[in-house]
Amino acid sequence: MDKIRVGLFGLGTVGTGVVKVLDDHKERIIHKLGCEVEIVKILVNDVSKTRDVIIKKNWLTDKPDDLIDDESIDVIVEVMGGVENTKELLERAIKNKKHIVTANKDLMAVSGQELLRLAKENHTDILYDASIAGGIPIVRTLVDGLASDHIEKVMGIVNGTTNFIMTKMTDEGLPFDQVLKEAQDLGFAEADPTSDVEGLDAARKMTLLANLAFKMEVNLADVEVKGITAITQDDINFAKSLGYTIKLIGIASMHDHKAEVMVEPTLLPKDHPLANVKNEFNAVYVYGDAVGETMFYGPGAGSLPTATAVVSDLMEVIRNIRLGISGNTYVDPQFKRQIKTPDE
Ligand code: NDP
Ligand code: HSE
Repeated sequence: MDKIRVGLFGLGTVGTGVVKVLDDHKERIIHKLGCEVEIVKILVNDVSKTRDVIIKKNWLTDKPDDLIDDESIDVIVEVMGGVENTKELLERAIKNKKHIVTANKDLMAVSGQELLRLAKENHTDILYDASIAGGIPIVRTLVDGLASDHIEKVMGIVNGTTNFIMTKMTDEGLPFDQVLKEAQDLGFAEADPTSDVEGLDAARKMTLLANLAFKMEVNLADVEVKGITAITQDDINFAKSLGYTIKLIGIASMHDHKAEVMVEPTLLPKDHPLANVKNEFNAVYVYGDAVGETMFYGPGAGSLPTATAVVSDLMEVIRNIRLGISGNTYVDPQFKRQIKTPDE
């Protein structure tokens, strides 16, 4: 039987989940793809660290070249995070004709188009569904599921850590710092959680969603961002007393052919569908001209949910390899950047 050989960058929260999903669902994956998926090397920082998953002897390395220059590796699964250094490593991997699956929204929000273009030139794929809303297949939905429609608005809760914090502060009255620590222990938060609580992680995801939904070049700098750090328990209690709940909401909408993208804490009536999205769960509402209202709900962070999205992308990459149709994931934004300014 054919084998597809994979190099994994990172064996933390998500990487561990990827190893588990590939192992637990091995038979299902073979049945679906008609080939085996074999991990051959894993790049980590510290090869001597104890791991939460069974790993094979000789899997771990701290040298990126062991994966990038290994001609037998077909796909790099990047779940280690980082921007500049990671971009450089992925560029080298793509030039070595490797396909990429990544959960790295920090990188994709800033350098996604550049990497996708390079991949196109090298006839390789880059898939990144895990980078937005964890286990919810929202990239696939926008690119394929709603391909025939004109999307006017995408809105939702796209950061699990802040939703976890707001839920615990609202429902249990727990203090911000204690809940943030819990989110970190559960593996939801970023290595530096500032990007979660200041709204930047959500802004990166909204940038990607706006690009995908409107087929327009939208930059991270175009997003107006406010996080949750200024929200006090008093604010939450006051909102509650009026029948509202506070959520960190991302909104991307089109007005007169101009895009407007923002992330901010928002008051929602208690019976609003998004008000009832709790803990690390995410929900993305999409409004299309023809389809009308749709909403997608699921775990937005965490090891196995995110790994499921990563492995599903890996399976799509493998299907493309086997069909000989790799290199078609690059979509040049159909429309040039047109952003609504605050005074419009
Ligand atoms: P972790 O911090 O848990 O794991 C990072 C892994 O990458 C570790 O194994 C670490 O090695 C390795 N690593 C980091 N930097 C380097 C480097 N420079 N060289 C070699 N190895 C390195 O991160 P997560 O698993 O939480 O997140 C990974 C990526 O997935 C990030 O881009 C994140 O934004 C994204 N993501 C995370 C989600 C989550 O719920 N956690 C959900 C969706 C996306 P070592 O183990 O030796 O320290
Ligand atoms: N830190 C991110 C979150 C991980 O809390 O949503 C998933 O992208």
